[in-house]
Amino acid sequence: MADKKIVILGARGMLGSDIAKLLISRGKNPACFDLPNFDITDSKQLQNAAGDADIIINCAAFTDVDKAETKSSDACAVNAEAVGSLAKIAAENNAYIIHISTDFVFDGTKHTPYTETDEPNPVNVYGQSKLSGEKLLTQSTCRNSIIRVQWSYGQNGDNFIKKLISLSTRQDSLKVVSDQIGSPTATAETAKVIAEFVEKQPLGLYHFAAAGYAGRFEVAKFVFDKLNIKTELAPCLSSEFPAPAKRPCNSRFCCDKISQLLNCDIESWNGPLERFLKKL
Ligand SMILES: NC(=O)c1ccc[n+]([C@@H]2O[C@H](COP(=O)([O-])OP(=O)(O)OC[C@H]3O[C@@H](n4cnc5c(N)ncnc54)[C@H](OP(=O)(O)O)[C@@H]3O)[C@@H](O)[C@H]2O)c1
Repeated sequence: MADKKIVILGARGMLGSDIAKLLISRGKNPACFDLPNFDITDSKQLQNAAGDADIIINCAAFTDVDKAETKSSDACAVNAEAVGSLAKIAAENNAYIIHISTDFVFDGTKHTPYTETDEPNPVNVYGQSKLSGEKLLTQSTCRNSIIRVQWSYGQNGDNFIKKLISLSTRQDSLKVVSDQIGSPTATAETAKVIAEFVEKQPLGLYHFAAAGYAGRFEVAKFVFDKLNIKTELAPCLSSEFPAPAKRPCNSRFCCDKISQLLNCDIESWNGPLERFLKKL
């Protein structure tokens, strides 16, 4: 039987580029699409890119959480409406979609880790747009899975870990919030999970994050210790860092469902982060 055609949308981004790399290393030949040559909000371009796919991995997203507050129609066009269009294309062709979503669909007020059955309640435009995208996908008849991820870092693109290191080169001291709790998760690890989804094609909603939980301050301390960075770190509260978009304080995921599906233990956040730092 001919190889299944795999299409990656948002393939130059942090996660998309790691998936592309991993699939290629496993002998697959994914077709990769991203800005500036491909715009997911352009229905013709989307049809051309995904119309003959067997498996579509959608990593394309408007990910600037603060900018989304003032550019809400742009964020919704990419994170919601385009996902609805993609679902229609997939339904017509019996293609399978792996769509990536976020912990920001939750308000973060729960005192325990979020499960897939918890009620979303986004507190910012980015979260609202991603939740709308999830709904458009689940309401469609196409075969799909949604993997919610969080606190991502990878080689390509901006992220919390790289920002910390960059700030440390310019500042003698740094305040980092200690009241936002989650799991820093390497896109290289998420890519392995997505590769399993490509093989197994499970349906439904899944949470994925590295095992264990930490506050952002604790993560910063880990990074500075490992890299022997001398910049002084001090914990602070989110309220001391007013930003255009509100952030949920509790981003913790319960990942039992995906762990059972893949029949594997998820590695704690420290290991992949240490490997990432060694490669920098
Ligand atoms: N980063 C995180 O911490 C995090 C946390 C939770 C969930 N997620 C989700 O994870 C997924 C992957 O994001 P990521 O972390 O890899 O972020 P990313 O590096 O920003 O990747 C998103 C990619 O989508 C592209 N894109 C934006 N608008 C597009 C459009 N109109 N048409 C086609 N491509 C477009 C971006 O291009 P440009 O860079 O040129 O805009 C970028 O290459 C997204 O669904 C995101 O919502 C991320």
